[in-house]
Amino acid sequence: MASSSTMFHASFVIALLSIASANAQLSTTFYSYSCPNLFSTVKSVVESAVSQDKRMGASLLRLFFHDCFVNGCDGSLLLDDTSSFTGEKTATPNKNSVRGFDVVDRIKCAVEKACPNVVSCADILAITARDAVVIYGGPYWEVKLGRRDSRTASLSGANGSIPPATSNLSTLISKFSAKGLSTQEMVALVGAHTVGQARCTSFRDHIYDDANIDGSLATARRSDCPRTQGSGDDNLAPLDLQTPTTFDNYYFGNLVSRKGLLHSDQQMFSGAGSTDSLVRTYSYDPSKFAADFAAAMTKMGDISPLTGYQGEIRKNCRKIN
Ligand code: HEM
Ligand SMILES: *[C@@H]1O[C@H](CO)[C@@H](O)[C@H](O)[C@H]1NC(C)=O
Ligand SMILES: *[C@@H]1O[C@H](CO)[C@@H](O)[C@H](O)[C@H]1NC(C)=O
Repeated sequence: MASSSTMFHASFVIALLSIASANAQLSTTFYSYSCPNLFSTVKSVVESAVSQDKRMGASLLRLFFHDCFVNGCDGSLLLDDTSSFTGEKTATPNKNSVRGFDVVDRIKCAVEKACPNVVSCADILAITARDAVVIYGGPYWEVKLGRRDSRTASLSGANGSIPPATSNLSTLISKFSAKGLSTQEMVALVGAHTVGQARCTSFRDHIYDDANIDGSLATARRSDCPRTQGSGDDNLAPLDLQTPTTFDNYYFGNLVSRKGLLHSDQQMFSGAGSTDSLVRTYSYDPSKFAADFAAAMTKMGDISPLTGYQGEIRKNCRKIN
């Protein structure tokens, strides 16, 4: 009798625990008691980094995307390679391209000082992405928190999940769909290209080989991005040619005038594509874009987080504890 009641009790507790971990939800108040100054601490470091380098907010925003698309938003992107560990930094979409890890270190340092061993690197990326958007004049949203940091990374996952700029529309749609994001959410999210820069190597084929590009843009970009692979590969051009440090909807207007910089950008508006009408809508309705972008960022931030007792709270974002 006693033993069966104990057994019942034990399995009841196990059932509760597994429900708790399976349904663990992120929440905007996760650190309210454990780290009350978290938001101001993160924001001040992001603000100082962007004031020193206007592009940095764009780079930080992109880190969140590249983290979330590989095994969920778990800080896996931040792990450095070592002799016995292969991270994601050398994966094709990241190599010679992602930047801002030193800023993430500075944020983590400031956060550890304010509240040691409490806040995950994955959550720091989520807050940083929102702060960057706000600094550029974009929408504000409440960031859901409670993610934990991975003890693993996946280079092949990064290769396979993050779409390259050479992708066509159907590949882009299916790579976002694989992460639970709709076509509408994809178009809103790629509006992040309203800020930041791309390297010649990312848009060379588009400016020389594609038909779906404004002639004057192609000519202008060719002057600083030679045809020959290997020459000028790292020369930069703005993804949004008018306002690359303002989070506005000009990116979509550019797509309508065939002035997307990347092949993948222009795939969103081809003249006969399924996403053309949404691009047009965002091009004349900045508040709809802002609202949809904020909602889609929250949805992207929900991609398979580690919660509860999963993973860890990394002390240093670059290495597992
Ligand atoms: C539709 C799929 C996407 C593709 C194919 C794509 C591809 C790219 C490429 C090729 C670059 C330039 C990289 C370089 O040359 O170094 C870039 C930059 C950037 N991407 Fe995307 N991207 C996509 C979606 C997104 C999303 C969803 C976000 C964020 C929500 C994002 C944020 C950014 C930002 C902010 C930059 C500029 C970074 C900087 O200046 O450092 N991208 N993207
Ligand atoms: C990732 O992609 C690069 C370039 O295509 C390739 O060299 C590398 O082997 C790939 N790695 C994995 C693990 O898929
Ligand atoms: C899109 O690209 C994929 C992969 O390269 C290819 O298999 C597919 O046929 C392409 N689809 C269209 C509609 O061009």
